[in-house]
Amino acid sequence: GKVGVLFGGRSAERDVSVMSGNGVLAALKSKGVDAYAFDPAERSIAELAAEKFDRVFIALHGRYGEDGSLQGVLEQLNIPYTGSGVMASAIAMDKIFTKRIWQTHGLSTPKYAVLTPQTQLRTVPDDLGLPLIIKPPHEGSTIGISKVRGYSEMSEAYALAAQFDDVVLAEEFIEGRELTVAVLGQGEQAYALPIIEIVAPDGNYDYQNKYFTDDTRYLCPASLDPVLTQQIQEMAVDAYRALDCEGWARLDVLLRKSDNRPFLLEINTSPGMTGHSLVPMAAKATGMSYEDLCMEILKTARL
Ligand code: DAL
Ligand code: MG
Repeated sequence: GKVGVLFGGRSAERDVSVMSGNGVLAALKSKGVDAYAFDPAERSIAELAAEKFDRVFIALHGRYGEDGSLQGVLEQLNIPYTGSGVMASAIAMDKIFTKRIWQTHGLSTPKYAVLTPQTQLRTVPDDLGLPLIIKPPHEGSTIGISKVRGYSEMSEAYALAAQFDDVVLAEEFIEGRELTVAVLGQGEQAYALPIIEIVAPDGNYDYQNKYFTDDTRYLCPASLDPVLTQQIQEMAVDAYRALDCEGWARLDVLLRKSDNRPFLLEINTSPGMTGHSLVPMAAKATGMSYEDLCMEILKTARL
């Protein structure tokens, strides 16, 4: 049947989504799938319905694509779609609600505080220490994130994050190794791909180093002892199931230097599929090509 590849969109990650979507579209076509691009930023819901897609591959990142709102539209239109459902997508898009759920499941995530325009710095408990990471809770690709080394830098970091969200997340800084784990499948069948370690220039895996430079090094599988590898992969699968994610996702993890303890940072329910992206890299380490990965994800499309 006819497959729509949804990409572009109107979030701050539009440009990333265009790179992801073009890759996915070409891959599906190369596999003989009757696939078409559809940009929900340029076309209406009525036009989406009129396309009569049998299913869609969501290659949108961020708001209105990854956050459950589009998933709701697709449910209404009765079009099967890839990835998580409405609730899991909405929760995963919110780093604060995600942490609350993980905490109730006993899953380890850095300590945090929620900052509002009224409270700002006053609500940061002393035990978060310094440096602090300040983030907009609903963004991706490190957009709007700052590392605050002293409280004097706080108002600038707050103002940057507040451009994107009404509330702002302040998180304990974990000094350690940066890992990411892709999870595929649903429910009891969900499984983790090999862990990737990201070694960014100056330890700064920001927007530029994510998508444009070639100075970031990726080690896949990450060099970790087998027991720790299994522990982190199990943790990622548990974290995925805790939110009721489906299809695929990628979890970002920090491995604390002082004691090798892993901390879950966030989960991406529509991860990047660009030429620099990590889920394709992890799939490749198991012998699965980019094209095969796209086909695997498409197979999981459902309502
Ligand atoms: N938010 C970007 C696209 C990612 O997590 O890959
Ligand atoms: Mg993200």
